[in-house]
Amino acid sequence: MTVTREQVLAVLDQVKSPDGLPLPRTGTLSEVVASDGKVFFSITVDADAVKAWEPVRKRAEEAVRAIPAVQSALVALTAERKGGAQAARPAQPAPRHAGASARSESPQGVPGVAAIIAVASGKGGVGKSTTAVNLALGLSALGLKVGILDADIYGPSMPKLLAIRERPQTVGGTRLKPIARYGLAVMSIGFLIDEETPMIWRGPMVMSALTQMLREVEWGTLDVMVVDMPPGTGDAQLTMAQQVPLKGAVIVSTPQDLALIDARRGISMFRRVNVPVLGIVENMSYFICPECGTRSDIFGHGGARHEAARLGVPFLGEVPLHMSIREKSDAGLPVVATEPDGPHAAIYRAIAAAVRDELSAGQGARAAPRIVIEA
Ligand SMILES: Nc1ncnc2c1ncn2[C@@H]1O[C@H](COP(=O)(O)OP(=O)(O)OP(=O)(O)O)[C@@H](O)[C@H]1O
Ligand SMILES: [Mg+2]
Repeated sequence: MTVTREQVLAVLDQVKSPDGLPLPRTGTLSEVVASDGKVFFSITVDADAVKAWEPVRKRAEEAVRAIPAVQSALVALTAERKGGAQAARPAQPAPRHAGASARSESPQGVPGVAAIIAVASGKGGVGKSTTAVNLALGLSALGLKVGILDADIYGPSMPKLLAIRERPQTVGGTRLKPIARYGLAVMSIGFLIDEETPMIWRGPMVMSALTQMLREVEWGTLDVMVVDMPPGTGDAQLTMAQQVPLKGAVIVSTPQDLALIDARRGISMFRRVNVPVLGIVENMSYFICPECGTRSDIFGHGGARHEAARLGVPFLGEVPLHMSIREKSDAGLPVVATEPDGPHAAIYRAIAAAVRDELSAGQGARAAPRIVIEA
């Protein structure tokens, strides 16, 4: 049984706005995405009307969930700012999430989560998601409780990299339970929406979906949450870096000059929003010939280490270009979990230890550490 847009709109007709109008007639609805039992849409209202609209959002979500063919529904409330502010910063989250601190400099933390770190790159396809998963598993192997939030709304990777096909269950009606895999708590928009569904996301929808995955998911107690960021350093990424309460960022780069220029952009983006750069990982750093064992530095290995020194950020380690990393990663069997005794798992664990040490050092330097990450 599948659910159609028309079915969704029909039930939304019964949901009334604060002015008593049927929801589809208020002009606040985004495109309704309904596919394979999963429904997503957003309601965009003026920033000062958000409070009045929150019960409407809730009722809309409940009404859609009550359709028999619907397995999951996510309704985001997003705030449109009046005047020109929207153009300058397109991805402001709804104030209901940020509460009184909507305009303040640093976003609120997530209760129970000691440290949130971003894995980012200026450029796509450098191995960010692969690094995020194996780093998370490496941190977990060090005895930490770890979660992964897939913030790549346009191209979620976690369903594939962790071979997750099930849908998250809801707890208490509205909150979602993350999926547990290899000891990690995982959440991705890909669990709610088909990978194949072309998504038309506007800036505010992206932030709203991200904020919901951050704050309306039962993450439990985590030492570290690893956020797999979308590639790039545009407005959307900048706003994410600003709105997610990050303790630090790990930048992934390949050794080529072009990737390094992008990595530099990534670093300056995090610096601009006062998020400490925990360090750089050089991915696809060198190649060991599986036949003869000869090492080749195909992309001119070492560029990221050099760049890290030049920019005064830690160098966290280098990961070789290896067929088994690609095959395992793309088959949903990350090397750290499935080949824990192999050389690649050891490399990722060493990177994880370096990240943990950087985090602990940063925590110590701050005025009021909430939870100290044990060494
Ligand atoms: N060290 C490595 N050795 C071999 N293959 C790798 C390595 N790291 C990543 N890959 C492969 O490179 C491809 C891109 O990796 P990944 O999806 O992790 O990159 P990404 O930076 O997250 O991409 P995007 O920008 O699209 O989100 C994947 O097929 C992955 O398996
Ligand atoms: Mg990715």
